[in-house]
Amino acid sequence: MKASGSDKIVITLCMGSSCFSRGNNVNAELIDRFLRENNLDAAVETHGCLCEGKCKAGPNIRINGELVQGVEPGMITDLLKHKLCGVLR
Ligand code: FES
Repeated sequence: MKASGSDKIVITLCMGSSCFSRGNNVNAELIDRFLRENNLDAAVETHGCLCEGKCKAGPNIRINGELVQGVEPGMITDLLKHKLCGVLR
């Protein structure tokens, strides 16, 4: 987890047991690696949250509040490239 900042992009991963075991355990590591490799640690902060009751469509991630469902680890890099294209160099 990273320090808070008002102008940062916020990625929130559901860490409830369903989302966690179905992919967010791996997604958390992949997101951290992506941010490190692209020097985005200062522009993006990550958080975990508890189950939001949307388990069936998980693994769930929010990017600046926008819910993205069914985020399999195989698609996380493309999702981040798409959602973070404004801050990628
Ligand atoms: S565990 Fe993620 S919505 Fe329930």
